[in-house]
Amino acid sequence: MTATLQAVSPDLIQALQAALGADHVFTDRERLEPFGRDETEDLHVWPEVAVFPGSTAEVQAVVRLAAKHQVPIVARGGGTGLSGGAIPVRGGIVLSTRRMNEILELDEANLVAVVQPGIVTQTFQETVEAKGLFYPPDPASRGSCVIGGNLAECAGGPRCVKYGVTRDYVLGLEVVLASGEVIRTGGKLYKDVTGYNLTQLFVGSEGTLGIITEATLRLIPLPPLNKTLMAPFPTLDQAAQAVSRIFQAGITPSACELLSQAALNATEEHLGKKFPREISEAAASLLLEVDGFHDDDVERDALRLGEVCLEVGAEDVLLAGTPERARELWGIRRSMGEAVKSQGDYREYDVAVPRALMPDALRAIDAVLEPLGLRALSYGHAGDGNLHVNVLRDALSAEAWAAALEQTGPAVVNAIVKLGGTISGEHGIGWIQRGLLGLQLSPANLALQRGIKASFDPHGILNPDKVLPPG
Ligand code: LAC
Ligand code: ZN
Repeated sequence: MTATLQAVSPDLIQALQAALGADHVFTDRERLEPFGRDETEDLHVWPEVAVFPGSTAEVQAVVRLAAKHQVPIVARGGGTGLSGGAIPVRGGIVLSTRRMNEILELDEANLVAVVQPGIVTQTFQETVEAKGLFYPPDPASRGSCVIGGNLAECAGGPRCVKYGVTRDYVLGLEVVLASGEVIRTGGKLYKDVTGYNLTQLFVGSEGTLGIITEATLRLIPLPPLNKTLMAPFPTLDQAAQAVSRIFQAGITPSACELLSQAALNATEEHLGKKFPREISEAAASLLLEVDGFHDDDVERDALRLGEVCLEVGAEDVLLAGTPERARELWGIRRSMGEAVKSQGDYREYDVAVPRALMPDALRAIDAVLEPLGLRALSYGHAGDGNLHVNVLRDALSAEAWAAALEQTGPAVVNAIVKLGGTISGEHGIGWIQRGLLGLQLSPANLALQRGIKASFDPHGILNPDKVLPPG
């Protein structure tokens, strides 16, 4: 489908400059360089041009030009993706949404916000929180990622265990299609069964079906109270077992993160900060939060959470005594991805399994890695059954590492699929995981997905070579 894609011509550059103004079109290598990477491991490719439209009309103009010239066009938000979703692997145009970063409307009566895609997630969250409202999805990169990228990847984060993932907050979209036409889906509506649910088809489609230029997002009241706890366990298995027990006990924590000792120690080292000794020395810990509107409820849930952990074998339960201490613990957790990077080359698997099968998933991954002499720094959103398994290259030669990766990908995915799990819980398929898709999705399912792509983007100009496997 993408065989006929063309290189960017001087004519096209001129037309882009005429449409956006020369200031909003980059062509020199130095300024293009950052637009060839995201946060995914060590990938770097080259766009031919990067453009910065300031409005939906300008996005339309760029897409129309890309369509006319049959040039790839890759939408880009904060560049914090973890599966290579925003990198222009076929060259062409990178379309950054960073100038489109306004909150267009904060409708407190309907509890919705209408935003442009380039607003930084944390900026949006802080703005609504100042009004007592809450937009929960909280990817670790929330200080630098943007809503458009969160929508494209259907981002997750620690709080999603209680509040749901990005898609659960998207009520409507404005999207520029591959033809350059604009459509609107949904609206400020909590109920809407008119036609197929295109809103949710665009969410998580990684820029392969259209370019989101506006989103109508659901907000909820901000729970003012929370408590953060940490529970160290003597084995990873027990920490994983405690997770489903917590939910069975009738508590829905607002975060339930599993941190292996290896991941935790790497983060301590990276930040030059220390967890309490009980935590640093435990095989694994749970980082837990409960939140709510009433002191008594939050107090009771925190207490019960601690009891369940102790019943399953936790060595201790430590309560963050002050908001500063809680912030510090979460700061360490949010730095875990960075800490992994500081260990050198690695490959991340973002698998998810049914929550109660977390212990089985951890054992299955061990069974894959151990015979290969590989180790992983694992941590993740255990309450969602979502694990970030970071396999480290350590001292392997480049050839041995490449050979190991050939094996680990399919082996990890096969083991996870056998448990009813999935290749990616929240980082997306993007560029690096598409070769694995056929291990999970049936040929009939893949054929439907290819049909959807062809119907939205018949010439294959939107983020080519992403999500769907070649062939
Ligand atoms: C995190 C990112 C890697 O959970 O998803 O830290
Ligand atoms: Zn995560």
